[in-house]
This record gives sequence, structure tokens and C-alpha cells, in this order.
Amino acid sequence: MVFGENFLWGGAIAANQAEGAYDKDNRGISNIDVIPYGERRMKVKLGLDSNIDIRDDEYYPSHTGIDFYHNYKEDIKLLAELGIKVFRTSISWSRLYPNGDELEPNRLGVEFYKNMFSECKKYDIELLVTLSHFDVPIGIVKKYGSWRNREVIALFERYATTCFVEFDGLVKYWLTFNEINIILHSPFSGAGLVFRDNENHNQVKYQATHHVLVASASVTKIAKQINVNNQIGCMLAGGRFYPYSCDPKDVWTALEKERENLFFIDVQSRGYYPSYTKKMFRDKGVNIHMEDEDAEILKNTVDFISFSYYSSRCATYDISDKPVNDGNIIKSVKNPYITVSEWGWGIDPLGLRITMNELYDRYQKPLFIVENGLGAIDIIENGMINDDYRIAYLKEHIKAMSDGVDDGVELIGYTVWGIIDLVASSTGEMSKRYGLVYVDKENDGTGSLKRIPKKSFEWYRNVIKSNGEIL
Ligand code: BG6
Repeated sequence: MVFGENFLWGGAIAANQAEGAYDKDNRGISNIDVIPYGERRMKVKLGLDSNIDIRDDEYYPSHTGIDFYHNYKEDIKLLAELGIKVFRTSISWSRLYPNGDELEPNRLGVEFYKNMFSECKKYDIELLVTLSHFDVPIGIVKKYGSWRNREVIALFERYATTCFVEFDGLVKYWLTFNEINIILHSPFSGAGLVFRDNENHNQVKYQATHHVLVASASVTKIAKQINVNNQIGCMLAGGRFYPYSCDPKDVWTALEKERENLFFIDVQSRGYYPSYTKKMFRDKGVNIHMEDEDAEILKNTVDFISFSYYSSRCATYDISDKPVNDGNIIKSVKNPYITVSEWGWGIDPLGLRITMNELYDRYQKPLFIVENGLGAIDIIENGMINDDYRIAYLKEHIKAMSDGVDDGVELIGYTVWGIIDLVASSTGEMSKRYGLVYVDKENDGTGSLKRIPKKSFEWYRNVIKSNGEIL
């Protein structure tokens, strides 16, 4: 058997894409809640839109999500039938601290997560919880300028401490920040950053990053003080950059792109800024302000490295004459050797094995694949969804993952992204479905919210049952 008997097969969702109930039980609004569906959404993601209020004439997908907030018992029961060993979700910061800077948490928010996590434990499902999955209370965005402000570190420490104390014994695996490198590419949804006129965006993004890294290391320490059994991971939007060709200039560009991505988890796993950052920051005109104690705090490194994998990426020194792929936020030159999904995202299972080997060689810490899946249009025929394309995608990726383990990579687990259909993060669509469970909801918000297991549900059930032997 390639996978150990404790291998954690699972599924993942996130609060902002699934819970809905955005204003229920004292929850405050977060950055995602002011991003409307449609074209304007893309502008906000680029940080070009400074309108950070909810408008009456827009539809906001996160406000209702798939109403996991009210359906969680039924959903977790389905996941238990699927046989998952671990469930990844996130906590909504503004459900616990509605404005972000209250002194005491909102008890109704705490109760919701306690109940939901206890429901998982009832079925022996382990929890993997992200503290911040593209999630900053709008109160922090408006009053503090979000992560550009050092004061936010203390607010995050208070929030994280509440989580570690209140959910102690329920949650074992924690991720501090989802896809931490996305702050560079989607600064508003990634970290609540809004830019002022004429400022150096890189300066703001990297200073904010420094605060995020210090906060991450600091809460890693707190988590261990509260319970030594807590396991803390960093989380990368993964996918190796291949050189477009063997022209040394392409190879160098790919190496630089890799560093731009891995810088974040280099710090989180090694505990200090790598030497290459000196020149990187100089080239970008960035000068990071650090306090004396920061170097010491950063030494609180993570226990494991987690990442999402949808596709590999491709880099060249001269992109002017080359087509560009859509992809998981980070754009890439189109790789002529791989196919793409309906949304133009590359499909490269071997890239998963390559990425696993790269990360393990670099850090020598256990890995956790916490997102992988296919966003596709599903059609219901006679009440069934025959998603053979999704099965094919997952099968190839699990095979590659198994090869990676066979190569010697230490892997804790694998969670299929969007195990239940949810709102797509980049576009706000429902029609970009990842789930093994269908949710009856359309892009405009209409639908009964009924859940229907797809063909892939039964397939994955057997994969888990056979511990990855039967694909
Ligand atoms: C990752 C995020 O970027 O990719 C998820 O962590 C997101 O939140 C996933 O949903 C897939 O992206 P999308 O845009 O297809 O939902």
C-alpha cells in the first residue's frame, strides 16, 4: 500500500464561499462580502476599486453561499457517508469579532463553530481549519487599512487565541493564512488591501506581508502554548513554474517566479527571510520596516507545508509574443504540452508530483495537499450528474500523488476542493462546480439549495475505502 493507514482523505470548503448567513447572529461583514458578482468583482480583486461598501443594486454571492450555516448537519452527514477522514473549512473572523477589534468574541459565532466541529467529531472526522481564508473584517479594512497596519497583528492574535482556546480538543490541524502568496496578485480579496493614489503597490503588499508573516509565526507559538498537540501549517497557492524553454533566460525567469511564490513559505518554514529577498526588494523598490522582536517571533516555524494544486505554471523572459493562460489567479504563459479546463486552467497531473517533490526537497517537512479539483459545468440528467470528467481529473491527480509518495515524499493527507459545490472565489459563479455533491443554486442566486451526490461521490467513496488502491 502506498498510503499509510492514517492517511487523511478528505474534502475542503471555506467559510466565505459556503456559509452564507453573512449578517446572522451578530456576524460583521468581511472583505469578500463587498465584492459583487460579475465584472466589478475582477476590478476589486486587482485593487482598483475603492468602493468598500455593500450596494443595494448588486448581487453578492458570499451573502448566501450555499447556506452551510444552516445546512451543516445535513452536509456533514453526507460527508460522513462519503467516508472522509478530514474536513477542511475556515472560520469567519468577522463571525467571531464582527468589527475585528472588539475585546470579547461574539458568543453566537463561537457556538456555531463549536457545534459544527462537534458534529464532525460525532462521525470521527478530523478537522483542518484555516484561520483566514481570504477573510478580513471590513471594520479592520476601514479603520486600520487592513494588514498594512501593524496593529492588526495584535487583533489577529486575539482572534486566533480565541479559536485555539474555544475549539481546543476539537481541531488538531490549523492553517494560518490561505494561499498566502495571493496577496501579491489579488490584494483586496487576499488581504483586504486597498491602495491610495500613486503609492508603490509592492511596498504596501510586502509590508502587509511582513505583518501577516509575523502574525502567522506569533499565533503558531500561541497554538503550541495552548496545546502542544496542535499542528500548524502554512498554505501556498502551489504549482511549479516551468521554464517555457531551455533558453537559460527562461530558466532564470522561472527561478525568479518560483522565489516570488515560495518566499512566503520559505519564511514560515525556515523562520527567517532568505538572502535572495535583499535584491528582490531592492529591485521592487521595497523597504520593509521590521521591529527588533520580529526576527525572534519568525523563528516559530510551521509543522507542515500545505498547498493548493490546480495546475503547473510556465515562465519566459519575453512574454510579448506568447499566449497567456487563465489560472488560479497567478497568470502563466500557455504551456503547449497540457490541456486546459473549461475555465482555461491548465491540467497537469504530473505537475502535482513535480510540485510535491520540489516542496519536500526544499523544506523536508510533511506536506498536506489541501486543495485540488476540477471546476466544471455539471448537467443534471434524470436527476443524476454523471461527472466522468471530474472523476478522470481526480483519478489522474491521485495517481500522480501516489507516485509522489512513492518517490519518498511524506504526505499527511489530501482534501478535494469544493467537496460540496460552492461559490467560485475568482468569479463568484456557482456554475463553476467542484463538488462531489451538487447544490441546486444558480449564478443569480436562485435555486432550492437541494444537495445531490454526483457520480464522483460514489467513486471517491471507494477510493477512500480502499485507501487509494482502487481508482
Ligand atoms: C483557491 C482558493 O484559490 O482556489 C479557493 O483557496 C478557490 O478559495 C479555489 O475557490 C478555486 O478557485 P475558483 O476561483 O475556481 O473558486
